[in-house]
Amino acid sequence: MRCILMNKNVPVVEVELDDDTATILKVMKNYELDFLPIGIDVKTGIPNKKELNEWWFGRCIPASRSGITPALEQLGVRYSEQLLLRCYGLSLSDQYWMKPVDSELKWKNINFFENDFSDDVGNILFGRPVAEGIDLMSPCNTSDGWLKKKWVMIDSKRYLVKAGSNPYMQEPINEVFGTRLHQRLGCKNYVSYKVLLEGDIPYSVCENFINHNTELVSAVSINRSMKKSNQFSSYEHFLNACQRLGIPGMKEFVDYMLVFDYLMANTDRHFGNLGAIRNVETLEWIGPAPVFDSGTSLWHDKLTRAINPLEEMETKPFYSNISKQMKLVSDFSWIPFEELRHLEDDIKEIFMPTEFIDEERIEALANAVTGRVEELQDMALS
Ligand SMILES: Nc1ncnc2c1ncn2[C@@H]1O[C@H](COP(=O)(O)OP(=O)(O)O)[C@@H](O)[C@H]1O
Ligand SMILES: [Mg+2]
Repeated sequence: MRCILMNKNVPVVEVELDDDTATILKVMKNYELDFLPIGIDVKTGIPNKKELNEWWFGRCIPASRSGITPALEQLGVRYSEQLLLRCYGLSLSDQYWMKPVDSELKWKNINFFENDFSDDVGNILFGRPVAEGIDLMSPCNTSDGWLKKKWVMIDSKRYLVKAGSNPYMQEPINEVFGTRLHQRLGCKNYVSYKVLLEGDIPYSVCENFINHNTELVSAVSINRSMKKSNQFSSYEHFLNACQRLGIPGMKEFVDYMLVFDYLMANTDRHFGNLGAIRNVETLEWIGPAPVFDSGTSLWHDKLTRAINPLEEMETKPFYSNISKQMKLVSDFSWIPFEELRHLEDDIKEIFMPTEFIDEERIEALANAVTGRVEELQDMALS
């Protein structure tokens, strides 16, 4: 099948796709290469096909997504790549799409920012039964990450609803605590999460921080935009790539993020969980994306008795060693420690006892977070 990869209304390249697997077989024609996704190399005027495929398949639901096998069966496809073209590859995190060459489709009539979308895929991904005649036109086909999630529309706004994981279902509540921590730290650039309870099961809900004029570019793509030389650490390489692209404010943002993640004991800040926002019309960089996806934290998968603030846990994205990673923080002077004095009360207010989390665990989390604040204070003084 022949399609034009579009960035909103701008044609980027024409490609030949395999009808069954949606693989990009060949780049047939160039249009506006400046509008290519970030991180795709162009040599002698030809975009790298392997990188294009990596980017394209990076849009589909990962095989590791919780509950994906029965969901795909119900959706009537063998693998999630086959869902991509059912929604023209459209997403709610950027404006790329595949337009069949013989179609008259217009972005304004099909994008998910301004048009309704079906709840069918989202419901099926959540294990809910859906009547016959499933409508596959949904941004849930192009959502990343392993936790169960779906996009929903409430009063014409787009929200991402995300589940937690067994046994404590802690991630959604962690996101709410993270939101409070951002407020305490005086952060201006964060995603605000709330909890939605279905029975006793918590889900986190956050509004889309991308709009019809912008795109989220992950740090994975930013890193790929420049060849890494061995003389640079991954931290230096990332900041160099941001500088070369012209993304403002990343160093200060990373300083903040490392401190926030330290307090949260976040173990999952991989390069897909941070990024930058670009205007897709002007290709101007707006700045770092707000801090999002901070739920894999607060000892969410540890037994209560193993919750220990001083634990040398593995960290991401720059170093797996927490002490090494925290040495990257160039300035601690901005941290309002006064505001962090009562985080244990915030924990006790936000983590209500449920069938998944008991009082003993909440007490352990409150103590552990207090321990982290003390450790951070020591770091700031040393
Ligand atoms: N509020 C949001 N607005 C726009 N895109 C988002 C938002 N939250 C997440 N995303 C996109 O969805 C992807 C998956 O969400 P994430 O919260 O990282 O889930 P997971 O915990 O499964 O990794 C992110 O990598 C990002 O591309
Ligand atoms: Mg994520």
